Amino acid sequence: MSGPKTHQQPVTALDEEQVERAVSAALTAIAAADSLDALKHVRLDHSGDRSPLALANREIGSIPARERAAAGRLIGSARGRVAAALNTRKEQLEAERDARMLAEEAVDVTLPVERRPPGARHPLQLISERIADVFVGMGWEIAEGPEVEAEWFNFDALNFDPDHPARQMQDTFFVDPVSSGLVLRTHTSPVQARTLLERGVPLYVACPGKAFRTDELDATHTPVFHQVEGLAVDKGLTMAHLKGTLDHLAAAMFGTDVVTRLRPSFFPFTEPSAEMDLRCFVCGGQEATCRTCGGTGWIEWGGCGMVNPNVLTACGVDPQEYTGFAFGMGLERTLMFRHGIAEMRDMVEGDVRFSLHYGMEI
Ligand code: PHE
Repeated sequence: MSGPKTHQQPVTALDEEQVERAVSAALTAIAAADSLDALKHVRLDHSGDRSPLALANREIGSIPARERAAAGRLIGSARGRVAAALNTRKEQLEAERDARMLAEEAVDVTLPVERRPPGARHPLQLISERIADVFVGMGWEIAEGPEVEAEWFNFDALNFDPDHPARQMQDTFFVDPVSSGLVLRTHTSPVQARTLLERGVPLYVACPGKAFRTDELDATHTPVFHQVEGLAVDKGLTMAHLKGTLDHLAAAMFGTDVVTRLRPSFFPFTEPSAEMDLRCFVCGGQEATCRTCGGTGWIEWGGCGMVNPNVLTACGVDPQEYTGFAFGMGLERTLMFRHGIAEMRDMVEGDVRFSLHYGMEI
């Protein structure tokens, strides 16, 4: 057993002076204890089992009987004073500790916090997935093709002659060196030839993706844009199937009261070819001065047509047996019509505050 840590005079229960000295030593030590830890040691030293007052208390039994009561009172009151002082100091120190903790751990809820703005998926990505869902819902497959494309797939396989003006119409980014025969695809139509060659017929496939043309970025043009290509090749397909499919897509994108029309057009890879127009969302075809439709009442959504037999032949499909239809709709245009976006640049800049408007669809 180890004795008290401080050197203290032993106390005899009958010696009032000794008892008083022990008490005042205890009171001084208690007053000097500046932490609850220090006070714990003081308590052990001055009122623990091995403290002088406790030892003196133990001796009382061996004191002659007539002096025992006085000794008991003396030691008892001495120990009582020490215990009371210990408790008072303990309460003081605990109160101080609590006050300190309250001050130290206080949270200033008015301080500015570092805000982390939530992210958002780009609306073009969302609409692309929605469109893919529409086609998957009809049992179509989804395909992808490379953005850096062989000139052959981008043009030749699609029935563009080497000096066909449409090659120049689709202002092309060529990949250096020109002899590489590679371009940034000017439309998603090369996926038609790729999937026909890879998957064969019958074929129902949709391909959302990026396309590139050497346009300057302005309110209605961007050199990088998105299309969704569709291609169906089967026995007995007609223009009516094309119109029905595009009307279904239009209703899914713009609501069932959307009005559409097909307008004759030209593409080397479709015959006959058409543009699909939508009834102007702004004036409903009612205003000769409408700036959105230029007073025509219609706005162009995308190109389409019956697959040119030359394309089927180039892809190893017998045009006597199979017919097909194809279309390519602009995703930026779809988004602009759907949400009344007037400025192409908003879609290109990638500012998350723009994307946040469209909510979060996972
Ligand atoms: N590829 C054409 C374009 O980018 C659109 C189109 C696709 C037309 C399929 C007809 C058939 O303008």
